[in-house]
Amino acid sequence: MVEFQNVSVWFGDNLVFKNLNFTVNDGEFVFIAGPTGSGKSTLLRLIYMDIFPNRGKVIVGKFDSSKIKRKHIPYLRRRLGIVFQDFKLLDDRNVFENVALALHVTGAKKKEVNKKVLTALAEVGLSHKKNNMPEELSGGEQQRVAIARAIVNEPFLILADEPTGNLDPDTSIEIIELLKKINLRGTSIIMATHNYSLIERVKDAKVYQISNFNLTQIK
Ligand SMILES: Nc1ncnc2c1ncn2[C@@H]1O[C@H](COP(=O)(O)OP(=O)(O)OP(=O)(O)O)[C@@H](O)[C@H]1O
Ligand SMILES: [Mg+2]
Repeated sequence: MVEFQNVSVWFGDNLVFKNLNFTVNDGEFVFIAGPTGSGKSTLLRLIYMDIFPNRGKVIVGKFDSSKIKRKHIPYLRRRLGIVFQDFKLLDDRNVFENVALALHVTGAKKKEVNKKVLTALAEVGLSHKKNNMPEELSGGEQQRVAIARAIVNEPFLILADEPTGNLDPDTSIEIIELLKKINLRGTSIIMATHNYSLIERVKDAKVYQISNFNLTQIK
């Protein structure tokens, strides 16, 4: 479903990946661990095609980084759910609207938008906050809104870049438990983190560590 073929990436004289081969299969929960600056975010950006390999290619579903046209990248992104450390909610829209936005761009009908947004908010346990503004929510609640936004299009893959990086330990556990629940329903998850105690909470996960410009599977 995701396949890196001989991927090399560098920024100027700063090498990040050298000849990386890496596959993620349907339904897997995969952690990418590694110290700051090792390339976790770069790896996720390659998957949502925010950047492209200098050598080799990345295949995500039917999308191939070596062939994709710029105008088709939004179609790839609609098939993915992306969650960031800093939530990236729109401050001037309420919770419902933040989640609905991803559906408006697909041209979904109002009734369908309503149903899907309420389902996603129920999934993350925030139905009661649908009319609140982001600033009225705790950090953990804001991240759950971001997760609702990520799942509302029923993606086949969720990419999470240190989604618990701004959260306290208990709230981080809530978020990882939520991602586990989403994964159990069949959505693949690739999560970047350097928090090994969180990694241990996902028993069936595959764990890769970035070292020597490559990935080493450690579990
Ligand atoms: N657009 C860019 N231009 C130049 N260098 C970059 C760019 N993006 C990333 N880098 C460099 O690539 C390396 C990997 O960065 P990346 O952001 O992927 O690390 P990371 O593992 O996500 O780190 P962190 O844990 O701090 O988020 C770093 O040395 C970074 O400075
Ligand atoms: Mg990063």
